[in-house]
Amino acid sequence: MKDSFGRNINYLRIAVTDLCNLRCRYCMPKEGVELKRHDDILSYEEIIEVAKCAVKLGIKKVRLTGGEPLVRANILYLVEQIAKIPGINDLAMTTNGTLLKQYAADLKKAGLHRVNVSLDSLRDDRYYQITRGGNLKDVQDGLEEAIRVGLQPIKINMVVIADFNEDEVNQMIKFARILGVKTQFIKKMDLHLPKTHDHHIFDRPPKCNDCNRLRLTADGKLKPCLFSDIEISVRELGAEEAIKKAVSLKPQAGTVCNEREMVEIGG
Ligand code: 5AD
Ligand code: SF4
Repeated sequence: MKDSFGRNINYLRIAVTDLCNLRCRYCMPKEGVELKRHDDILSYEEIIEVAKCAVKLGIKKVRLTGGEPLVRANILYLVEQIAKIPGINDLAMTTNGTLLKQYAADLKKAGLHRVNVSLDSLRDDRYYQITRGGNLKDVQDGLEEAIRVGLQPIKINMVVIADFNEDEVNQMIKFARILGVKTQFIKKMDLHLPKTHDHHIFDRPPKCNDCNRLRLTADGKLKPCLFSDIEISVRELGAEEAIKKAVSLKPQAGTVCNEREMVEIGG
């Protein structure tokens, strides 16, 4: 699918839930986000329909995000169904890793190709602080299990925050090298501030110019751009029309998103 600026849209990020078992400071407001009504959250059948339609229209890469995707009940069923769609050459998940010890083997079996694991510190106290209560050991165990079962290539996502964890970047690189996994360093973004155009990953800055993504929120809105409030409802238009419309409305460059929190969009 080409958008109106000639970009090839071939990547769909699906937020399967807006719930999370952590509350990272850069992702969730302190007071949390308003709970969505159960009926507003897309069913797995609805998500699968969007995914099938998207692949028919040219999507080749799918990433499951959240919130935390592994907290949604029966997530293995969704992975299995999406993995069965012919034409997806990359099926990934972004997870905080806390439940990976339990899920990694089954995710692999269900057909997931790989995981990105969010990990911002290797110090217990800092990890606890940034996630507002998380346990570092859970993630380390999860990461080990993901490696063991071969959810490769595995990436560690580290949000680098000035005066908090920037002194750990080298240590994270070493830690990842020993495990044989990759690292991605991400600058903290603020959706609600005008976009500064340098918010992406340090070593591979994908500019708006070559942005290839669409996002689907857990409540069924297609977002053509993270830094925009444009949303297209898949329930109102049906999957196919909604996808085409979202692609046609993709802005040339992002500006600001006021209506959502990061935890609702999945980064
Ligand atoms: N800035 C940058 N990245 C964020 N993420 C969530 N919130 C932010 C933010 N404010 C990304 C992180 C995390 C993933 C789940 O979402 O990369 O690993
Ligand atoms: Fe949860 Fe990930 Fe957001 Fe942290 S960054 S609160 S783990 S969704």
